[in-house]
Amino acid sequence: MEKQVIKLFPTLVHHYREVLSPVQLAAIATHCLSVEAGQHRAFIGDTKSSFSRNSHLIENLETNYPVLKGLHNGLSKLMIGYALEYGFEGIQVKNSWFNVQRPGSVLKHHVHTDSKISAALFVQADAQSSKLHLENPNPFLNYIRPENFTEYTFEYAQFQPVAGDLILFPSWIKHGSGFEANLSKDRIVISINAS
Ligand SMILES: [Fe+2]
Repeated sequence: MEKQVIKLFPTLVHHYREVLSPVQLAAIATHCLSVEAGQHRAFIGDTKSSFSRNSHLIENLETNYPVLKGLHNGLSKLMIGYALEYGFEGIQVKNSWFNVQRPGSVLKHHVHTDSKISAALFVQADAQSSKLHLENPNPFLNYIRPENFTEYTFEYAQFQPVAGDLILFPSWIKHGSGFEANLSKDRIVISINAS
């Protein structure tokens, strides 16, 4: 008798740690906290965001801070590597922006439209920071209630962000803060879309 276990339809996520040095993270945090920015409708509460379809944050950071030389190229390479494993060639970074969340703020669940691959680069986070919550895209899981949750039945996955973490995921996956409020002083993340 021969048995074969086949795990159908997985979702690819890359999780890197220590993508940037503490000095680089500090430079980005200083920038994000000091520049003027607006609001993003994905957030509830005290936040600021530089989101726009035409925002090129990582290119601008690299231009303005010598310590961040190579930032755009380095992050692009990681996203291209993800894309190749995922099945896409010719991927390019399209836009990037920062989000600052203050205590009590919530990131609503959302998808990144008009994008194939997205990245979240955590610039400043601690144990009080809200998690990155990714929803299982299988809509039929709500019909069952297993005795034991397994990799086949988890309704979501959560990452407790640490400064320097980079998480790459498909832009279509619904994500947010899991309906939990951020409790850290300034939770700073750079978001990147690539297509
Ligand atoms: Fe997002």
